[in-house]
Amino acid sequence: MRSDHTTRRSALALAAGLSLAAAMPALAQDGARKIRIGVIGAGNIGGTVGTLWVKDGHEVMFASRHPETLAPMVSELGPKAKAGTPEEAIRFGDAVFIAVPYKAYPDLAKEIGPSLKGKIVLDAGNATQKRDGALYDEVQANGLGITSAKYFPGAKLVRAFSSANYKVFAKEGANGGRDRTGGRMAIPIAGDDPAALRVAEQLVRDAGFDPVVIGSLKDADKVAIGAPAFGQNVTASELREKLGLAN
Ligand SMILES: NC(=O)c1ccc[n+]([C@@H]2O[C@H](COP(=O)([O-])OP(=O)(O)OC[C@H]3O[C@@H](n4cnc5c(N)ncnc54)[C@H](OP(=O)(O)O)[C@@H]3O)[C@@H](O)[C@H]2O)c1
Repeated sequence: MRSDHTTRRSALALAAGLSLAAAMPALAQDGARKIRIGVIGAGNIGGTVGTLWVKDGHEVMFASRHPETLAPMVSELGPKAKAGTPEEAIRFGDAVFIAVPYKAYPDLAKEIGPSLKGKIVLDAGNATQKRDGALYDEVQANGLGITSAKYFPGAKLVRAFSSANYKVFAKEGANGGRDRTGGRMAIPIAGDDPAALRVAEQLVRDAGFDPVVIGSLKDADKVAIGAPAFGQNVTASELREKLGLAN
């Protein structure tokens, strides 16, 4: 069982490496399929998912407005982890992961929006009424995916890692997700750009989960806070069933 699983993963990794290479010619050459990832916001969610990618062998630059505060974290993670400013992380990354409070999006967009044009951007942001105020109202009116796309126009945006708590991701993604009883946890993703979706699918696998493409950016609300599919710690086929997607 274990060796079948490992062999299948290797085959998938090879196939995904080829499709990644097609999607992004400038892959970092650390193993055929490892890429460089810039993580904007190294808090609960950025720190957790970025750490899972480092453990899988990706090079990750964690960004902070005060990068020096990340020194202990990157030192503990070893040579594949670096700290930098948001602009440095965007330049560094073949792909970028945004994990900051939603209310920061308007200011962040002014600061880094132009640099994100054309980039593959995974977006974990959720809006809550208590924390995000007016941004919460905007998301309620227009939807999460559409609102993120408004703030980062031209980015190849994929909603990812927004649908559960970071502690669940840390536990279920550990050891490549192989320790989870019953199979790997599903991570729903949504986006409009097929090549970016392929990259995001691979990055979800590399973090130790199984990706489930739930649709385009306008479908991101199907797994937003308050939706029945939010917070589901289930396998890919269970998630597809809950969302009425083909299995
Ligand atoms: N926590 C979860 O379990 C979870 C799960 C799914 C989705 N999310 C979503 O992920 C996002 C991050 O949540 P979190 O819990 O990881 O938050 P967090 O622990 O507070 O970390 C957020 C990070 O964003 C950075 N940041 C804050 N304001 C910023 C600004 N104006 N410009 C640039 N960077 C800023 C901060 O870094 P510096 O101060 O170092 O710059 C901070 O480390 C939120 O939108 C949240 O809804 C969270």
